[in-house]
Amino acid sequence: MRWPKPRAPTLSTPLTSRIEDTRAEALAALQAARSAADLEKVRVEYLGRAQGRIRDLLAALKGLPAAQRPEAGARINALKEALAAALAGRAAELGRAEGPGARALADLTQPGLARPVGHLHVITQTLEALTEVFGALGFSAVEGPEVETERHNFDALNIPKDHPARDSFDTFFLNCGLLLRSHTSPAQVRVMEAQSPPVRVIVPGRVYRPDAVDATHFYCFHQCEGLMIDEGVSFADLRAVLAMAMEGVLGPGTRTRFRPSYFPFTEPSAEVDVSCLFCQGSGCKVCKHSGWVELLGAGLVNPAVLEAVGYDAERYTGFAFGIGVERLAMFRYGINDIRLFLENDLRFLEQF
Ligand code: DAH
Repeated sequence: MRWPKPRAPTLSTPLTSRIEDTRAEALAALQAARSAADLEKVRVEYLGRAQGRIRDLLAALKGLPAAQRPEAGARINALKEALAAALAGRAAELGRAEGPGARALADLTQPGLARPVGHLHVITQTLEALTEVFGALGFSAVEGPEVETERHNFDALNIPKDHPARDSFDTFFLNCGLLLRSHTSPAQVRVMEAQSPPVRVIVPGRVYRPDAVDATHFYCFHQCEGLMIDEGVSFADLRAVLAMAMEGVLGPGTRTRFRPSYFPFTEPSAEVDVSCLFCQGSGCKVCKHSGWVELLGAGLVNPAVLEAVGYDAERYTGFAFGIGVERLAMFRYGINDIRLFLENDLRFLEQF
């Protein structure tokens, strides 16, 4: 081994070489660092105030003759600055290597990352539009279970045991005597069982029927039930509420038309049409040239239904309605196939 030449007669050799050894080791450690955590370890080991190796070198100054201290001190300070600069340089290098987030940190002038934000499904948007419009008319939104009892889905709604809707072709029966609700109307019964009049609710939700799938049928779809019960509620109230609600959902100028119909849970009952959005009633493909599109069923609540839940049918009257939500959305947006709602094709969904 060759001894270093005594270059600096004023400075003792051991401290000088300690300084240079420290520099070499620190630079090697920085090169070896692979992450911000590695760098922090190197920083603490060398530049740490409590136990860092630079601090040790400075402490060692005390052992030098007073005349040599200023020069040695200056060298140590220079090393300290050089290490701080090398540390920052290595941090930037690692930042560039660690992916776009780190790069953005290293270079603040780069554009940010665009994060695609999704939005609500068109059926959810339609349900929210209904909830808002009926909310403005004083109806609160409630939910009912999708797995129902036969009593709620049928009996209490005045649908007798031999009614064809109970046929297994029309209803999904579960093994345990329960079924997937075939309409949102059972929620009427649940609301009335839970509270006394006045009642003013809507029930948006999913319903199930074992229908063969085609452009206008699916085994799972949505309805929005409505129910209002109070003293003196009449058919005129039903007409006014639905006329305002349909204008609210489909736009000003939308007209409603009531056709006589039959539902076991209402008496009298009606099928409700709205004027065609696309031709304003003059006739087009969407309305099959009739100028009208059927959107819901409605009527005055059958006294048998009020009695089934223990309401005084002499004192209270009310109306109910059930809106087909897919049908409403298809009409509102001019969609011609119900299956599009469930295919998760972004080219379709992004249009709404
Ligand atoms: N539950 C009916 C159906 O699924 C729709 C309906 C009609 C609901 C008339 C009602 C109503 O509340 O009054 O076809």
